[in-house]
Amino acid sequence: MEFKNKVVLITGAASGIGKAAALAFAKEGAKMVVSDRDIPAGEATVANIIEQGGEAVFFSADVAVFVEVEQLIQQILELHGRLDIAINNAGIAGLSARTSDYPIADFEKVMQINTAGVFYGMKAQLPQMVKQGKGVIINTASIAGLKGLPNSIAYTASKHAVVGMTKTVAMEYGKQNIRVNALCPVFTVTPLFNPEQIEAVAPGIPDKLKANVPMKRFAEVQEQVDAMLWLASDKASFVTGVAFPVDGGLSA
Ligand SMILES: NC(=O)c1ccc[n+]([C@@H]2O[C@H](COP(=O)([O-])OP(=O)(O)OC[C@H]3O[C@@H](n4cnc5c(N)ncnc54)[C@H](O)[C@@H]3O)[C@@H](O)[C@H]2O)c1
Repeated sequence: MEFKNKVVLITGAASGIGKAAALAFAKEGAKMVVSDRDIPAGEATVANIIEQGGEAVFFSADVAVFVEVEQLIQQILELHGRLDIAINNAGIAGLSARTSDYPIADFEKVMQINTAGVFYGMKAQLPQMVKQGKGVIINTASIAGLKGLPNSIAYTASKHAVVGMTKTVAMEYGKQNIRVNALCPVFTVTPLFNPEQIEAVAPGIPDKLKANVPMKRFAEVQEQVDAMLWLASDKASFVTGVAFPVDGGLSA
């Protein structure tokens, strides 16, 4: 078991990639801390982990509110006394509109959750990892953190910022044995990216998106989770400051 007794926090673990990752880390022996702002769905993730014989607790937190993030880390330390791996994964897509039509309030909301949320997470997690003399952070960015994505000014800004923060923190904390990497998924079928819903409002778009990917398909959630498991493991012990694309070659 790769993560036996490791305390692992995943935000946005009530759904999609975060939920699948929580189940996978728990299967590898982690003491999971599932966090999300969606309380019933977060508690359901914990129930699923316990059903499969794993260990997990749920603590609700809105990553866009720093006091809630601080409180989350405090709760983890009261329960477990340590935090080995933190995956700052909560995020939203925001609406789709050309830049001149993009509402200011929507831009600010996406930046607050996707960018400030990751900053708040790392700010609260790092002091404990420094004390431990070891830690791993993975921030979920996106292929939109490496490339432009038309009609998504807020999302691309927010995810480019996640990549930049990841590199900066990796440089600041490398000497303290803390590794920080960003996962950059391409289109992965989850409630956040639902090709059937997109097809219903914009026929033909999912096929066009797929056609742009050299491997001519969308990602499976498990493919993103497998990359998280590797980045978090000691097999990646000298990997830090990387924006790691799991994208079928789209960023090539
Ligand atoms: N699915 C994709 O195609 C794709 C591609 C690239 C990157 N990503 C990124 O992967 C991450 C996970 O996305 P997903 O596809 O699993 O989406 P999802 O919608 O299935 O899950 C996201 C989770 O984050 C939670 N969340 C949202 N805002 C929050 C907040 N303020 N505080 C706490 N929790 C909050 C939601 O409640 C939800 O449970 C996101 O950061 C997303 O940007 C997804």
